[in-house]
Order: sequence, then C-alpha cells, then structure tokens
Amino acid sequence: MDATTLQGQLTTTPDGLINGTARDTTRPGESLLVELKLGHGWSANIPTDAATGVFEVRPPAQAFPDGEPLDITATVDGLSLPGSGAQVGPPLPLELVAGDIVNNCNLRCPFCLTDYALTRGTKQMPAETYAHSLKLAPLVPESAFWLSCMHEPSLNASFGQFLDLVPAADRRRVSFTTNFAKKLDDDLLRTIAQSGAHSIRISIDSHDPELFGQLRKGARYPVFIDNLTRYAAIARETPTAPLLHIITMAFKDNLTEMPELVRWCHEEVGARFHEVRFMYYLPHVAEWGADHIMSLDEWEQLKRDLLALPMAHTLAFGEPEPDAHKKFQELPGIDTYEHVAAVFGGTVTTENYRRVDPLETGYAVPDEPLRLRLRWDGLIMAEQLPEDEFRLNVLHIEDPKYFYRLRAAAPLRADSPWKRV
Ligand SMILES: C[S@@+](CC[C@H](N)C(=O)[O-])C[C@H]1O[C@@H](n2cnc3c(N)ncnc32)[C@H](O)[C@@H]1O
Ligand code: SF4
Repeated sequence: MDATTLQGQLTTTPDGLINGTARDTTRPGESLLVELKLGHGWSANIPTDAATGVFEVRPPAQAFPDGEPLDITATVDGLSLPGSGAQVGPPLPLELVAGDIVNNCNLRCPFCLTDYALTRGTKQMPAETYAHSLKLAPLVPESAFWLSCMHEPSLNASFGQFLDLVPAADRRRVSFTTNFAKKLDDDLLRTIAQSGAHSIRISIDSHDPELFGQLRKGARYPVFIDNLTRYAAIARETPTAPLLHIITMAFKDNLTEMPELVRWCHEEVGARFHEVRFMYYLPHVAEWGADHIMSLDEWEQLKRDLLALPMAHTLAFGEPEPDAHKKFQELPGIDTYEHVAAVFGGTVTTENYRRVDPLETGYAVPDEPLRLRLRWDGLIMAEQLPEDEFRLNVLHIEDPKYFYRLRAAAPLRADSPWKRV
C-alpha cells in the first residue's frame, strides 16, 4: 500500500465519536488497522470492517478531564488518513439526568413506583436550584434531561416558566412524563407544545372513566381527556411540538381495551411512540399487583394482538422482569419493608446534607456515562454508585465540568482499545 492506494476519511463529532473508512485499493475486502493518536498521549489500533472499510470508536473519557476537544490523527501503515488532525470532543459524561421539580403527585395510583405514605405537602424545586440544574443539560444526549421521573411535574407552579428557561441549544435534550390529570390551561399546553423539548410522555391506561379513576386514583377522566384533546389540537398546529410518547400500564383490568386504546392514541391524539409496560415489582405495591398483573400467556397474547395493528411500528413493550410472576406470588421484602421519606436520600435534607465526592474520597467510579437522579431540592445521586459514596447538591457544583473530571477519574475499562503511552 502507498499513499495513492489508501482511500478513506477520518470524521469526528463534538460529542465524542470517531469514525471513518479506510481501504487499500490493492487489497479489496481486507480489514486494515487504523492507528489513532489522541492528545495527552492516548492511542488505539482499530480494525476496519473487511466488507465496508468502516471503523468507529469512542475516545476514552479519561483523556478529557477538562472537557475540551483534543486533536486526533489517524494513520494506516504510517500513511495519514484524510481528515487526520481534526479535533474530537469528549464523550458526554452523563447518560441521563432524571430530575423531579416536585416531591409529590396529585394522584395515588395503586401500582405507583413511588411510595407516598410518608409524603406530607408538596415541595417545589426553587428557581435557583432549577437554574443550577440546567447547567447539567449540555452534558446529556437528546431527550435525557428529564423534568420528571418519579413525581408529577405539573404540580410545580413554575412548570411553564421552567420550560421557557431552557437555553435554545439544550431544548432537544429535555423530556418529561406527566399524568395530565390536573386541569391545565391553554397557555401551559401551548408552552409545552412550543417548548422545543424532544418528547413528552403522557400516561393513559384506560378509556373507561371508572377504571381510569381506579388505576389513576384521584384523577377524573373528563379532566384528563379535556387536557389531552386540547393539547393534541395545539400540538397539531405546532410543527416543532415535542414527540408525543404514550405510556400505558398493562393489567388484567385494561387488557381487552388495549388495541383500541393504542389505535386511538395514534390516530386521534398523534402519538408517535407507545410503550405498553408491565408493572415493576416493589414491596409497597406487591399485594395490589398480585391481584392485577396479567399472566405471562395473557401478556404474550396481548403483544401478538398489538403487533397486528397498523401502528405496530410505534409500539414498544416494557417486558416483565424474568422473575416477575414469582415475585408477585412470593412477595419478597413485603414483611420487612419500611416506608421511605423520599425516593432517594432517605432523611437527608439540604440542611443536614454532607457532600460525598469520589474525587475527594478516591472511590472508583465505573467507566461509563453516569445516570443521575436529581431531587426537587437539588440532591443528586448516581444510579451506578452507592448513595453513601456519591452525594452532591446541584447548588454546590461550581462548574458542570466537574462531571468530566469525575469521568476522567474512572479506571479504564478492561476491554477498552485505548492505552496511554
Ligand atoms: C412514576 S410516573 C411519574 C410521572 C407521572 N406522574 C405519570 O404517572 O405519568 C412515571 C411512569 O411510570 C409508570 N409507573 C408507575 N408505576 C409503575 C410500576 N410499578 N412499574 C412500571 N411503571 C410504573 C407510570 O405509569 C408513568 O408512566
Ligand atoms: S400519576 Fe404517576 S407519580 Fe402519580 S401516583 Fe400515578 S404513577 Fe405515581
């Protein structure tokens, strides 16, 4: 091979992707080894796909402690690939910020993930905490900055203003889940439709007003339907409206109406993604669940029926955990379960909070983007880390580049193609 027979290109993205093609015209169909060299002394040898000549790799987060792009060169047998010398940005340090802008819900669904037994009163995320939280938005991929995860975002009186406050560059990173059960005025619905958010997830489990009220305990069907149909009309008039994603919890109770519900959401409401979800097991909802979950045969038949619908391509199934039925039969943890004051953080408050930072303790963080949860009061935890090894308040993160440093501190994964020379 010489410079005249090497064909290909190196391309990079600002959010940390290195890819391209490399082919030797004298050896068609053969895999080549692309030698990549990244600033700060990192290198990797990546083979191309023999058939297509394509190669692709992510740079190591460890190379970007300050979150700034680095130069990258690519050579094959010492010959430089076109595009070599470009810059590549760091991989995004966070996979998800699953935030909540309140601590409560207006409903008490009998299957709810959140145990509200000890919740008294609604606490709202203060504006200053929200402003600090927004600094994390550039660190996540599209749709992965959630304004709600475990609670109901429409209970925050500033919900509309919060959506307006998202910087234009980060709007596609925003999404949220709502029960749409509180009476919502047209102004708020318009704000949602014009927010530029990537997607909104609306929960609906039944068209039968009585069953709706039993599953969504505390909700009134006419209020929900009025919100949803007014929102659908506004969204239809708004070309940039967020993708409408529906979540339906599947139980014995709503099994027969499911095909019609899916059709209606798609055709009448404009849903472009519909998740039909089997209930997760949690001790506080185990007894209710035991009486209401479908058998595995019913679930499999339901999936076949739904996949026969013309809008089957919009469907996704939240499968039961492999041992779900055993759990709902044996009810593990039900005897020893104690109600918790908050979905995480236990009794920690902003007053008694103590910072636990792996960058100070030396605790080894895993070599993967972190999945953060963010409480209404700014408390943060990471799903991959024990709570007593990582505890921060978003108000105390001076610079969001902290998360690049945290990622860079992770020991390199054993299967990483990168090494530091
Ligand atoms: C916890 S809720 C919070 C957002 C909002 N209050 C709502 O219900 O849409 C988020 C989603 O989780 C679903 N969900 C609730 N309990 C669940 C469970 N035990 N297993 C799986 N999903 C559940 C809800 O139906 C909803 O779609
Ligand atoms: S509406 Fe959502 S958060 Fe509220 S109780 Fe139901 S599932 Fe839980």
